[in-house]
Amino acid sequence: MAEVGDDPVLWAIACGLKPQKWQARALWLATAGLLPETAKKNGIQEIKNELAVVAANGAGKSWVVCVLIAYWLWRVRKGAVVVTSASWRQLRAQIASGIKTMFGGIFPQWEFLDTRVENPVNGSVCHFLSVDTPGRFEGIHSRREMGDDGIMVGGLLQVFDEAKTIPNAVEAAAQRSKALSKVVVSSPAGLPSGFHYDMFHNPQRSSLCYPMKVTAYDVDNPDFDQIEKIEALHGKDSVQFRSQIMAEWTASERKGVVVNAVHLARMMENPPSNAGEWKSKSEWRAFVDLSWMAGGDRTAVAIRRGKHIDRKSTRLNSSHLKLSRMPSSA
Ligand SMILES: Nc1ncnc2c1ncn2[C@@H]1O[C@H](COP(=O)(O)OP(=O)(O)OP(=O)(O)O)[C@@H](O)[C@H]1O
Ligand SMILES: [Mg+2]
Repeated sequence: MAEVGDDPVLWAIACGLKPQKWQARALWLATAGLLPETAKKNGIQEIKNELAVVAANGAGKSWVVCVLIAYWLWRVRKGAVVVTSASWRQLRAQIASGIKTMFGGIFPQWEFLDTRVENPVNGSVCHFLSVDTPGRFEGIHSRREMGDDGIMVGGLLQVFDEAKTIPNAVEAAAQRSKALSKVVVSSPAGLPSGFHYDMFHNPQRSSLCYPMKVTAYDVDNPDFDQIEKIEALHGKDSVQFRSQIMAEWTASERKGVVVNAVHLARMMENPPSNAGEWKSKSEWRAFVDLSWMAGGDRTAVAIRRGKHIDRKSTRLNSSHLKLSRMPSSA
């Protein structure tokens, strides 16, 4: 079992799972700092502590994140994991419940709670943190040190799922706790900015990490029907094809952006301080971009209340939406 336990991919297989080829490589890269020998055995020469993945929609990002977290909890004595995502709902729906579904039966001693998973056997804990509490990241450490019995203990894994939706301030706060492994995964954002984008494009950051791109062709069983459908609908040069299939950032070349895209992103991250005054004084405006097809397209809704803009998007397409008569004034 020693060898299986030293390799997250063999370990996942022993748990009855079957990582895709790209997911296996992601697991070795994400654990290179913890298990340099295993990484080297699998062709990874330079040991780094950060992995950035940009992948097509549905490529299996959250799945591999769940496996990595469970492996860390199993493997690292007194280890810690901090995972964050776009929202509490997403964290619960995709990560917390994914770990429980995949590993609850295999590790019945583990405690699967709403805000964390604990492995009482070796004292390791995974915390789920919401993006709106960046300060809490700083409080979670796990130093790697020699235990009393001469075996290494500790080690912090930080995970950012759907990183394009996580504000830079959250990542900056997290950077203060030294992670043994930091894993940042996302589909490409519309805007060419943010820490996830920088990990691929800013040499100072990209030199510190393993940048990994996963297109819709790189998964084990590519969905050629879906690929062809998006190509037929929009064309290979379209924003949709390049973003959803080729996992590319597209907004820098997008036509029709009047406001500088980077400035817009900064403004959205820092709404005006008096944004709360909308309730009594301001008018409301709504904008809806309906998605007319099933699949990756999203319906987007933006609501402006005074100086504050809320944006939401959903996978629902028009056939799921029942529009009722809107009141003539809000
Ligand atoms: N190796 C695997 N074995 C079995 N099922 C898998 C594997 N990889 C992914 N899946 C399944 O494929 C589906 C999509 O995976 P997942 O949700 O992880 O993708 P994603 O890239 O995070 O998607 P999104 O872009 O929506 O966030 C899920 O149902 C997941 O359980
Ligand atoms: Mg996901």
